[in-house]
Amino acid sequence: MLLNRNHSCHPLYRIARSLLLNRYSLAFLYLRGSGIEIGALHNPLRVSPRARVRYVDRMSVPDLRRQYPELKKKKLVPVDFVADGELLESVGDNSQEFVIANHFLEHCQNPLLALENMFRVLCPEGTLYLALPDSRYTFDRQRPVTPLEHLLRDYREGPDWSRRGHFLEWAHLVNGVRDQVEAEKQAEELMTMNYSIHYHVWSQFEMLEMLHVLRQQHPLDIEVMHRRKDEVIFIIRKGA
Ligand SMILES: C[S@@+](CC[C@H](N)C(=O)[O-])C[C@H]1O[C@@H](n2cnc3c(N)ncnc32)[C@H](O)[C@@H]1O
Repeated sequence: MLLNRNHSCHPLYRIARSLLLNRYSLAFLYLRGSGIEIGALHNPLRVSPRARVRYVDRMSVPDLRRQYPELKKKKLVPVDFVADGELLESVGDNSQEFVIANHFLEHCQNPLLALENMFRVLCPEGTLYLALPDSRYTFDRQRPVTPLEHLLRDYREGPDWSRRGHFLEWAHLVNGVRDQVEAEKQAEELMTMNYSIHYHVWSQFEMLEMLHVLRQQHPLDIEVMHRRKDEVIFIIRKGA
């Protein structure tokens, strides 16, 4: 029987769930009008014809090609405008019906500021479509989750105080470099090329903690929180 007490473990249930609830079906249900996607790269969110998306990235496509040689066989999204997605300086307040940020926030040095700016550009009742990798299921699994206090300090003081530490941790715990001198050398190289690492890592609970902090400044509602494979998808509505 499909719907017994253990129905959520049944393979058919899992198949039905992933067919019905996925990035695209949620986008289809919740996104319409005009908006932006930050950092779509090779994996833009598929949206319904009711949604018009402009693509923002920190680099032009040729520069992204140089930064990600491993994607040489993939098509990259044409970037409509180059901007720092943490600041979105060229995007007007209350101007977007939606903002999509999939696997982008962990690349931000100051995630609370980035979220604040996403809320700034959203119109009242606009939608933030946010997918975040859950570090327990990714190459970040060896890294400690980022404490909320760290994010608050990045927000208050700016993120420079922790930049080097993030690159070193990346060399040690993602790239598996054991030797300290070698790790420092690698961290230096990555910083010089301004490589976009995952600065911060979260599991689902720390994601909620971060949104709770945001809610103290900006009225918002979480319409959907859906854990899928290695990521958690949030559909967040800005208050009126
Ligand atoms: C891991 S890729 C995400 C790809 C895709 N969205 C997905 O869901 O698989 C991260 C993207 O964020 C972009 N990015 C990183 N930091 C950025 C910044 N400060 N401003 C704008 N884009 C940034 C990168 O260039 C890259 O395109």
